[in-house]
Formats: sequence, structure tokens, C-alpha cells
Amino acid sequence: MNRENPDYDNSPTLRTIPMPSDTNANGDIFGGWMLSQMDLAGSIIAVKTAKTRVATVGIEAMSFHKPVFVGDEVSFYCSIDRIGRTSITVYIESWARNRLSAKSQKVTEGKFTYVAIDENRKPVAVERQDG
Ligand SMILES: CC(C)(COP(=O)(O)OP(=O)(O)OC[C@H]1O[C@@H](n2cnc3c(N)ncnc32)[C@H](O)[C@@H]1OP(=O)(O)O)[C@@H](O)C(=O)NCCC(=O)NCCS
Repeated sequence: MNRENPDYDNSPTLRTIPMPSDTNANGDIFGGWMLSQMDLAGSIIAVKTAKTRVATVGIEAMSFHKPVFVGDEVSFYCSIDRIGRTSITVYIESWARNRLSAKSQKVTEGKFTYVAIDENRKPVAVERQDG
């Protein structure tokens, strides 16, 4: 994914603005808040693909590149990295923009894996689009 200059034609899966309650002890946005937003964004794609509920089973290749600040507009872009038998791995990039600036910068990226589950929380096979 190359989003050197993301614009409003590149629809994010999720876009939100962190609030003062989302800060860490330094006053920057807490990494756990970013992780939870990424998890939510990835789950939207995973549920859409699995057509059933999902549970997050793993996170890999997680990097925090730049700090995020209160009031930034943060956008989460997702793409499917891999579909296994019951799992779906979603690659997620987060981009932050100071609301008074035109320029966005990539702040985090990672791969989140979700497992398709049934009503008893047991893994179920993901229907493959390619048959
Ligand atoms: C998700 C859960 C139901 C899977 O059950 P399980 O018995 O581990 O299932 P399996 O061992 O059959 O693994 C299921 C799939 O997950 C994959 N998987 C398991 N652990 C993984 C990990 N740490 N990272 C990536 N993939 C993983 C397996 O490779 C398998 O993929 P595949 O079917 O596409 O080949 C169970 O682990 C669970 O309930 N975990 C807690 C989920 C949770 O509470 N998440 C946080 C809140 S959403």
C-alpha cells in the first residue's frame, strides 16, 4: 500500500479523532488506543469477508512509526493479506493528519489475524471467493 499523499478518494475503512482521554502519561495518544482502532478497522473487513462473527487471534509486524496527537484526524486503510481455512489476515495502515494541515503521514502499520467463529465461538471455514 503506498499512500504518500492519501486524499479523500482513498476511502479509509475507519476514520476518527482521538480525544484527551485517549492520551498516555506523556500527553501523546496511547498506543493501546491505536491498536484498538486498528483492530476495529480490520474486523470490519474480516466480518465482511467471513460473513460471520470473528475473533482477533494474533497481531504481527506491528510498528508505531510516529506519535499521534489529540485532535489529529486518523484514518485506517485495510487490505486482505491472506485468507486461510478459518482465518483472515488484514494488513492495516494508519495515517494521521493535523486537522489544519493538508499533509498526512503514516503512523502505524500491522497485520491483524481474525478467526471466523460460530455462535459457540468455534472456528468455522471461511468461504473462498475463488472456489
Ligand atoms: C479464535 C479462537 C476461537 C481460535 O480457536 P483455536 O482453537 O485457537 O483455533 P485453531 O487452532 O483451529 O486456529 C484457527 C486459525 O487461527 C490461526 N491462528 C491461531 N493462532 C494464531 C496466531 N497467534 N496468529 C495468527 N493466526 C493464528 C490458525 O493458524 C488457524 O488458521 P487457519 O484455519 O486459517 O489455518 C480462540 O483462539 C479464541 O477464542 N481466542 C480468543 C479470541 C479473543 O478473545 N480475542 C480478543 C478479543 S476479540
